[in-house]
Amino acid sequence: MATSQKPIASMSSITKRFLDVTANNDIDFNLYPGEICALLGENGAGKTTLMNILFGYYACDEGEIFIKGEKAELSAPRDAISRGVGMVRQHFALVPSQTVLENIIIGTDYGKGLFLDLKSARTKLLRLQKKFGLQVDPDARVWTLSVGEQQKVEILKALYRDVDILIMDEPTAVLAPAETVELFNTLKSMVKEGRSVVFISHKLNEVMEIADRVVVLRGGRVVAGRKTSETNIKELANLMVGRDLLERLEKKKVRPGKPVLEIENLRALNDKKLLALKGLNLVVRKNEILGMAGISGNGQRELSEALFGTRDPIGGTIKINGEAPRLGSPVSFIRLKMGRIPEDRIETGLMMDLSVEENLILENHATPEFQRFGMMNFKKIHQFSEDLIGAYSIMTAGRDAVTSSLSGGNLQKVMLARELAGRPAVVVASQPTRGLDVGAMEYIHQRILQEKERGAGVLLISEDLDEIFALSDRITVLYEGVIMGDVPVAEASREQIGLWMSGVTK
Ligand SMILES: Nc1ncnc2c1ncn2[C@@H]1O[C@H](COP(=O)(O)OP(=O)(O)OP(=O)(O)O)[C@@H](O)[C@H]1O
Ligand SMILES: [Mg+2]
Repeated sequence: MATSQKPIASMSSITKRFLDVTANNDIDFNLYPGEICALLGENGAGKTTLMNILFGYYACDEGEIFIKGEKAELSAPRDAISRGVGMVRQHFALVPSQTVLENIIIGTDYGKGLFLDLKSARTKLLRLQKKFGLQVDPDARVWTLSVGEQQKVEILKALYRDVDILIMDEPTAVLAPAETVELFNTLKSMVKEGRSVVFISHKLNEVMEIADRVVVLRGGRVVAGRKTSETNIKELANLMVGRDLLERLEKKKVRPGKPVLEIENLRALNDKKLLALKGLNLVVRKNEILGMAGISGNGQRELSEALFGTRDPIGGTIKINGEAPRLGSPVSFIRLKMGRIPEDRIETGLMMDLSVEENLILENHATPEFQRFGMMNFKKIHQFSEDLIGAYSIMTAGRDAVTSSLSGGNLQKVMLARELAGRPAVVVASQPTRGLDVGAMEYIHQRILQEKERGAGVLLISEDLDEIFALSDRITVLYEGVIMGDVPVAEASREQIGLWMSGVTK
């Protein structure tokens, strides 16, 4: 990559406003042939918005876009695709009931008209799969695929349309470590051919590994550009947040108390009706964080859903503070003071079409404080939501703003604020910082530690070993629906945990 080269895409003086938020403020951004350029910035910095503009999903209010030297008027993604721009968005847009091949050809010439030339479409697809190492069965129905496989389908969909610019919005947030390695190989083979990639990520070590260049946004503006060879993780973190981050979390010593979450012989099926939890036993005590490491897909989802009351187990018992909630009943779990932080904050955690305030009181609205004789006390409710927005520094236009307008980190803060407001006895947090920027991550980590100090027992389910080691008092590993072991953090080594994560017991 040489910057004397002409950019393949050039965005100039881009401004985009949403009501009173200026998401992009006079941004200049160039992308060069054959490079991987990372776009960094805190949650809400404007990364997705900028790329949505390049993909024709949003129109900018001001500014111009040039693609391959020509001025581009992009009024819809199809305009961008026809100019060679593809985007794998944070939330996939596949049709679950259709096959991989069908999903890929939707909207292309092969997919149009009376004669579906499936055979040549399949040949083209297989060739791309081989070339870029994207293995996934063309005849599998999308709903049966893992998230990592679905992402491959999205990439294939773009490659099938011959894009030479691929935008990937936080692609690794949903991937297991091994899948990330595969993705990086695919991206490297793409740029080797002269294609270009925009890579949005909060994982600075990945950015340092894969990107040639980094552009940092803050508050809708470009604040810095660096070659990765001329910067380091600490500098990038400071550029993003605009302040020094804590070097270490302060983990106060508190002595764990009585058990607050007891799980015995828990068995549950997954969506495909296969046994996902095979007789699970664990205990979390008051003032304790139990970190559960492991690669997603080993029963984590089923475990957290069983603990949220959204999945009915086929056997076993769960006790919260010594009392048994009604299994499969979310209300019963909430009543026993279970704080629930699900991994998919958008699908199950929050109601995206409701306001921030409505989400904040979602589980608390029936309490006497907010409701009396069937009348809602709106004054109290407004006060409650404004207090939480302030306490958690939730970036939003206000309590009435629609929740879907918030950035990822702010969505997570809304969920945390709601769940912790009721001073839960147990907190089950599943991948709580996935997709969050370093500043938001630090904040959530501090809040989780505070919950433990206050007296909650925390089950922290996470793929991120740094997070597990930083927060936990004890570490356990879930592998193929079974607990592999349990060790105090002071005696735990990464090697040992890594072995457990791949199913090896000594
Ligand atoms: N459709 C929308 N309506 C209103 N506001 C929006 C919309 N999309 C984005 N915003 C606002 O624009 C700002 C930038 O959001 P954007 O999604 O681009 O951030 P981001 O850098 O991608 O953050 P994250 O890392 O959390 O994904 C935020 O304040 C966000 O709330
Ligand atoms: Mg984003």
